[in-house]
Amino acid sequence: MSSYLSSEYYSNRIKQARKKMAPDSAMVLFSSGKKERNSGVHYSYRTNSDILYLTGINTPEFAIYIDSKEGTHIFLSESNAEKTRWEGRGVTFENISKNINIDIEKNIHPYEKIWAKLKELLKNKETVYFSLGKDGQIDVKITETINNIKNNLKKGDFAPTRIIHPQEILHEMRIIKTPEEIKLMKKAAEISAKAHENLIKYCRENVNKKELFEFELKSYIEWEFSKNALTSLAYPSIIAAGNNATVLHYTNLTSKVSAQDLVLVDAGCEYEGYASDISRTFPAGGKFTEAQKILYEIVLTAQKKAFEKCYINNTLDGIHDAALNTIVDGLFELGFFKKFLFIKNEKTEMKSSSSKEEIIKKEYYKTYYMHNTSHYLGLDVHDAGSRYINHKPRPLENGMVFTIEPGIYMPHEYDFLPEEFRGIGIRIEDDVIMQNGKHEIITHEAPKEISDLEV
Ligand code: GLY
Ligand code: MN
Ligand code: MN
Repeated sequence: MSSYLSSEYYSNRIKQARKKMAPDSAMVLFSSGKKERNSGVHYSYRTNSDILYLTGINTPEFAIYIDSKEGTHIFLSESNAEKTRWEGRGVTFENISKNINIDIEKNIHPYEKIWAKLKELLKNKETVYFSLGKDGQIDVKITETINNIKNNLKKGDFAPTRIIHPQEILHEMRIIKTPEEIKLMKKAAEISAKAHENLIKYCRENVNKKELFEFELKSYIEWEFSKNALTSLAYPSIIAAGNNATVLHYTNLTSKVSAQDLVLVDAGCEYEGYASDISRTFPAGGKFTEAQKILYEIVLTAQKKAFEKCYINNTLDGIHDAALNTIVDGLFELGFFKKFLFIKNEKTEMKSSSSKEEIIKKEYYKTYYMHNTSHYLGLDVHDAGSRYINHKPRPLENGMVFTIEPGIYMPHEYDFLPEEFRGIGIRIEDDVIMQNGKHEIITHEAPKEISDLEV
């Protein structure tokens, strides 16, 4: 049974969502399906974050119906004796009724009854909030149910004519975190930051003593995530030594780590549904080479400049610009735009530029820094909610949580670069909360100053 916050909390959230719904409407949300990994084995289950947001219930074959006027219905497939023997008791009607303050007799139904019940409930609703396109089988059943209503109308009754994605309501709500959510996010951040700190020490102590592989560092940090709390991974851990760090989503993890490598670790735990997202890059043996240090200092300065831009009414785009300008300045001074490979639309071309304006305008910087600086963080690592309102960047507000993660990547294949700079990938990533008009870095315990990474 997994429910993370109080029943008042979820009931209140459902109430708030209801207030934002159109008149004569209903919202229907389904939990994610179980996915088979291979014969008789399933991927570890995690429901979608909209369901978690409204109910805290993490189980398949579960749905919630919210009426714009009044009334919430839950549909749940309860365990039978045989299933219980194999899988345990699972979520029960009693659990749900405690979790979201709902009447078992009137408002909780067996999952098998959902389509018949929806046929009743959706009659005389104009609008249905439903995530069309997520699950083909459920899409078909919803449209069949609406058609069924349409084909059996009595005089004066009507069937839904509009389907709206619930993200219009829920993803907007999810951008601003409540104090209860922030508490959980801080705990996730704290666990992950400590794990990064310990991993850096472990790597430094062992890299010269024995053969150390990326997969061992992965096991180590993931053990750290779970040794004192029940956590899962917010995303697959990236542990990349040397040139592997220039692959943004590196997950191979088979390379041996050498003392002179920089190791990029992008890993974060999920605690009670909430993600953390931290990247650290450190010299495996505790000593930067000159070239590694030069690039590292640029990225660290870029991150600090970005933090300075974390204030109310600035925007994630404003934060990105600060980090980007610092990286472009640094690389420009080093002469890295005199000759560089420009990759665009799968075409590559050697270029040269002597103008920082041109480098920014034509996006030449993407040779070295190809991703954005920030994304929202919450129940999803790349959390819900639009960064733009009416095509304009959305102002920062109290309660927003996001990452700041500048980087520089110089793959070994960049043979136009001086040898000592090739095969280096650096990203430094922290999680930030806007609170009381200020920003708070909640992952600061993971070391990143050069003096803390060197011995
Ligand atoms: N770890 C995923 C990201 O940094 O966006
Ligand atoms: Mn991130
Ligand atoms: Mn990350």
